[in-house]
Amino acid sequence: MKKVKKAIIPAAGLGTRFLPATKAMPKEMLPIVDRPTIEYIVEEAIASGIEDIIIVTGKGKRAIEDHFDRNFELEENLISKGKLDILEKINQSSKVEIHYIRQKEPKGLGHAVWCARNFIGDEPFAVLLGDDIVSADKPCTKQLIEQYNTTGSSVIGVQTVSDEETKRYGIIDPISSKGRCYEVSNFVEKPAQGTAPSNLAIMGRYVLTPEIFEFLETQETGAGGEIQLTDAIQKLNESQKVYAYDFDGVRYDVGEKLGFITTTIEFALQNEEIKADLLEYLEEIVKKSNVKS
Ligand code: UTP
Repeated sequence: MKKVKKAIIPAAGLGTRFLPATKAMPKEMLPIVDRPTIEYIVEEAIASGIEDIIIVTGKGKRAIEDHFDRNFELEENLISKGKLDILEKINQSSKVEIHYIRQKEPKGLGHAVWCARNFIGDEPFAVLLGDDIVSADKPCTKQLIEQYNTTGSSVIGVQTVSDEETKRYGIIDPISSKGRCYEVSNFVEKPAQGTAPSNLAIMGRYVLTPEIFEFLETQETGAGGEIQLTDAIQKLNESQKVYAYDFDGVRYDVGEKLGFITTTIEFALQNEEIKADLLEYLEEIVKKSNVKS
């Protein structure tokens, strides 16, 4: 069985939920405390044993490439000022090869993944969405790779959402489960309110076999007028088994306003440098808003 060594990070979406902030800045570059969102995702891939990453970019996404590139002028400046701790921080992702491909038009997540087909070739691979951070003791992608290593089949990361939220996600129709792993009869993208077959939602992490590209090649547009990865996964599931895995960890959706703000607060409260002052500030504003109401 081939090992999972490559990962695709799709980051070519328009980020319309975050306009106007994302008009000229990629949403994947929005900072959570002091690091861009996509850096957390690259680090998860590295910690999961991924050796090569391809980031799918598009118009206006140049900042992502610049971020992962070396900046010798900045490095020299930090060295001359003795700021070696910061120097260490800016080169974290040099431990992995990062490649880029452009999706010329944002036709959907399925199309973005398809754009990376030549880079992946005939190997299983991981997909990590560029705007979803997962905080976990064992990296989420590593959990999925371990599952792949036991079954040799594609495996999709899922978690439970509320009834109201199911219409925003790809939802699975489970047949049976063994521990955290589900056999699935159907993968449904954004089911209409009240029609979801379960509350288990696809959460931006996948390990897929290369046969998925055969289905993406001819995949027509689905929900939202986009070429959906979930629709191709459903077809893959009809020709070979695709499992769902209820991963351990907390998933943060940084691609929408409330998710971005709550993630920022949670991560800031874990940051030794600022957590005490932030907590004091939060207590203060809660007290003030209680007085007003
Ligand atoms: P989203 O649907 O969350 O991103 O896709 P979006 O389309 O940018 O968001 P909104 O709805 O307009 O606010 C999840 C991931 O897939 C990438 C996005 O960049 C994001 O990281 N994506 C999406 C692509 O790479 N290409 C696409 O055509 C669509």
